[in-house]
Amino acid sequence: MRLQDKVCLITGAGSGIGKAMALRFAREGATVVIADQDGQAAEAVCALVKQNGGRAQPIEADVTVALEVQAMVRATVDTFGSLDVLVNQAGIIQVGDIIDLDEQEWDRVVAVNLKGVYLACKYGLRAMLAQGGGVIINTASISGLVGIPKQPAYCASKGGVIALTRALAVDYADRNIRVNCIAPGPIDTPWTENVLRAPGDPASEYRWIVMTQPLKRLGTPDEVAAAAAYLASDDAAYITGAVLTIDGGMTAR
Ligand SMILES: NC(=O)c1ccc[n+]([C@@H]2O[C@H](COP(=O)([O-])OP(=O)(O)OC[C@H]3O[C@@H](n4cnc5c(N)ncnc54)[C@H](O)[C@@H]3O)[C@@H](O)[C@H]2O)c1
Repeated sequence: MRLQDKVCLITGAGSGIGKAMALRFAREGATVVIADQDGQAAEAVCALVKQNGGRAQPIEADVTVALEVQAMVRATVDTFGSLDVLVNQAGIIQVGDIIDLDEQEWDRVVAVNLKGVYLACKYGLRAMLAQGGGVIINTASISGLVGIPKQPAYCASKGGVIALTRALAVDYADRNIRVNCIAPGPIDTPWTENVLRAPGDPASEYRWIVMTQPLKRLGTPDEVAAAAAYLASDDAAYITGAVLTIDGGMTAR
């Protein structure tokens, strides 16, 4: 129960890793606000958390829209009295060669994966400053640390998330706010299934990487959620500005 009485807002919590985080954080005693652009998915995860005895609230919000992000943070604080932990989890991927990548695709990936984190941090930090502290966990990827084939916009956006995390960790350390990021490798979620099962060749190198990594398997959403719960808790009180890889050893060699 390391997150007892903490109010945790998780974006992109309607599916995959974010859903696993919502369930894990609730099991650790948190009240979870489940934000997603897919309102029905957020409601379904909320119902699941409640079935398991947890406290949860769904919010429909697109992280690329400033007004919606502002409203998401305000609703969290108005309903539950604080925002103790913000997890920026919403993200999208685009697979293909950069010469075939059109501007709109680039802009959308960067908007969701990087601008979305900027907006949530901007409004989330204001709430945390007002209450005297908090924790932010941003979801990067190993694609922000090493070059992964055919993911140029995704790699760039996740590299940006890592840089933003470090910048905010430095800026807010003296205000009792810790900012870290997680960098998952290939995790078994609906998203990865889509990438791995894509017809033709675009995913073949990615598939090869999964098979040749040290632990030789996909990670599970629960394994990522466990790492995030640790960073969210006081067990990680001396950790800020860190990039925690959860990748089965993929980036170790
Ligand atoms: N699955 C992996 O292998 C993997 C690896 C590294 C990093 N990640 C990162 O983990 C995060 C989640 O991945 P996942 O595998 O759980 O994906 P997922 O597709 O299962 O879940 C992503 C969720 O984000 C939501 N979302 C998308 N755009 C949004 C927006 N603009 N506003 C609000 N919500 C939005 C979707 O509706 C969905 O519910 C992403 O940031 C991704 O980059 C995933």
